[in-house]
Amino acid sequence: MDFTTTLLDWYHREARKLPWRETKDPYKIWVSEVMLQQTQVETVIPYYKRFMERFPTLQILAAADEAEVLKYWEGLGYYRRVRLLHQGVREVQSKYGGVIPSEPELLMSLPGVGPYMVGSIASIAFNRPVAAVDGNVIRVVSRILAIDEDPSRATVRRQITAWVQERFPEGNAADYTQALMELGALVCTPKRPRCSDCPVQPFCRAAREDPERYPMKRKKADVPEERRIVLLITWKGRRLLVQRPKTGLMANFWEYPHFEAAVGDDGKRLAEEWAERNLGERLTFKFLKKMTHVYSHLRWNLEIYQADRGEGEDGSIAIGQWFLPEEEARLSRVAFVRKLAIETLD
Ligand code: ADE
Repeated sequence: MDFTTTLLDWYHREARKLPWRETKDPYKIWVSEVMLQQTQVETVIPYYKRFMERFPTLQILAAADEAEVLKYWEGLGYYRRVRLLHQGVREVQSKYGGVIPSEPELLMSLPGVGPYMVGSIASIAFNRPVAAVDGNVIRVVSRILAIDEDPSRATVRRQITAWVQERFPEGNAADYTQALMELGALVCTPKRPRCSDCPVQPFCRAAREDPERYPMKRKKADVPEERRIVLLITWKGRRLLVQRPKTGLMANFWEYPHFEAAVGDDGKRLAEEWAERNLGERLTFKFLKKMTHVYSHLRWNLEIYQADRGEGEDGSIAIGQWFLPEEEARLSRVAFVRKLAIETLD
């Protein structure tokens, strides 16, 4: 038996019964795939059910307030996803009379819909042979082919997509797409894959050596690392940005205040000392999150601290200026600030 038939037979025996597998409604498939993009199946199930009770059709979701839609997403995280989904659904309502197109090119033009979403909607909902390559599929195919390269590289990604694409069965694209994902979720797991239970083990090169070696990890950049503290200081809905010097690297660009710290320094204390020295104010900072930013010869391990300055009237300070989010978006900002703004002003 060939790869696809073997895989489909297994899927028909072993697939989990999941609520979004009981429908072919492209709207429901779309919502489920957005939820599943960054979140585990078990977590998604109750959210999906609640969401579908409240927004059973695309028309109802399109007509709903964004605030209410967000409420039904609360706890799933990555709220940008649901905003884009909502915009996408509204676009389908206004542009296509509420009917989700099955053409990959048209799907691709919708907000929040990238190659993975196109593949999953086109194949699962419309049974069209369009590959949907997610983390599960990357892992499965990297192992089958024992791909010796980092799958985040575009060439490797193309190789995996092409391999999946060439193996679509006649007339059953939907099950094939889900079978590959299911294999990744149930058998070809990141740690300790169950190769002895795997239906397609005879097709797999990695199973004969060390499957956990694949997918190849990205090589950790062999560059010096630097710990830096970044300050998000707010005042009446505005953020403090400072402008870089008129000459040198990224001249005149704007950034949130940041400075180097030694390993072992107390980041919160350094932030508070900075505010006292530069703003003449005692602020209380809270740690928000970590982030890395890689330059060609340097890696910044950023720690983001946040403080609010209260409602005082006087915004004048020597070191920088306050900007509302929409004003800030128009400034030339250094890359890590742009990235951080997208993640935190959303
Ligand atoms: N992960 C992404 N899409 C999925 C699906 N349709 N079923 C199970 N897991 C998934």
